[in-house]
Amino acid sequence: MKHIGKFTAALAAATMLSLSAGATDLAIVHGAIGKDNEVLRKELDRFEEQTGHKVEIVSMPESTTDQFSQYKLWLAAKSTDIDVYRIDVIGAAQIADHFVDLKEAYADIIDDYVPAAVESQMVDGKLVALPMFLGAPALYYRKDLLDKYGEEVPATWQEMTATAQKIMDAEREAGNGDMWGFVFQGAAYEGLTCNAQEWIASFGGGRIVEADGSIGINNDKAAEALDLAKSWIGTIAPEGVLNYKEEDARGVFQSGNAVFMRNWNYAYALAAGDDSPVKGKFAVTTLPVGAEGEKSAATLGGWHLGVSKYSEHPEEAIELVRFLNNYDNQKERAIETSRPPTLNAVYADADVAAEQEFIPLWKPVVDNALPRPSAATKRKYNEVSSEFWTAVHNTLSGDGSAKQNLAKLEAKLKRLKGNSW
Ligand code: GLC
Repeated sequence: MKHIGKFTAALAAATMLSLSAGATDLAIVHGAIGKDNEVLRKELDRFEEQTGHKVEIVSMPESTTDQFSQYKLWLAAKSTDIDVYRIDVIGAAQIADHFVDLKEAYADIIDDYVPAAVESQMVDGKLVALPMFLGAPALYYRKDLLDKYGEEVPATWQEMTATAQKIMDAEREAGNGDMWGFVFQGAAYEGLTCNAQEWIASFGGGRIVEADGSIGINNDKAAEALDLAKSWIGTIAPEGVLNYKEEDARGVFQSGNAVFMRNWNYAYALAAGDDSPVKGKFAVTTLPVGAEGEKSAATLGGWHLGVSKYSEHPEEAIELVRFLNNYDNQKERAIETSRPPTLNAVYADADVAAEQEFIPLWKPVVDNALPRPSAATKRKYNEVSSEFWTAVHNTLSGDGSAKQNLAKLEAKLKRLKGNSW
């Protein structure tokens, strides 16, 4: 109670300050990728025009893992420098205490949002962030090359492996020495957790930590999935994939040097752009499965806007978040950045369908995306994920077999869990 009282007083003081000063300076931090900065700046310019406030973009490195470390430093220091944080979907439970509860502020609009997106940002009854955009990856493939070699779109990872190898070999033989079969995110960071969760789940190997908190990751199907992934390194995927993040993979695919790519939605608009060498030559499909009868698994991604408890201008920051996530701005982002929106209605927008066919096409994949165990493992998610991507990265690097690394991982996760998450 005391805490709430203090906060309300701070809020009132901050509001008075901004009223007397007229215009307010705000700062928003995000990890820009692709066209994010460009589109955000355009939207902020309109906000500035409408409100008279000024908003600065603080741009972060591409890796969500690096961003999160920096966010935690600022938040621990109660920094007043940042008003609005763009937070990865997995972050809410870990940093909830540092954010304003947005439930009341957005009570009038929250029902327009995709329910699962809202749910992912609710921590102990508090709305930590207003969902900005979602993510569900695709298998990008070179339609032209599949046609050229009479190959089908692969339904299983094993088919993908064989087709990638065949086309890569043939293209290299024909003089295209830079061609690779498959690129993905193999660096030791959160992106690898997403990729590996997809391989393992689609082999029937379960989750890193199950929704009920149990740890079943040390199983034969998970090992089989990792063994297959290990076989890609240095064959259909360059050795360098072990350092690839999203933009590295896109760079190779978009310049025409990969048959297949696993990537998030943002890559679609860029690869289809006028200046893209693969424009008109690629298509997307759901990620393959590990075995017949198993389901394709696409990790749920996305980024959401939270207002820092340490902001000196919470009211204006709340207004900014409302503005950035309004229909027009979400529609603009859907069209220009091919990021799946968080407002239900934007998926049915005729202009979006006409100008960005990926959005309505991908709605069912977004709806069925597989969350990471951030809710089940609460504050320990970051450590869980880090143990997981380390085990996977070691396996891909040839440092221990899948079986050995999964056994070690199981022991580490059990220790981390203790009596409960
Ligand atoms: C994308 C996803 C995010 C995920 C990250 C991993 O940005 O939206 O949820 O953690 O990729 O690299």
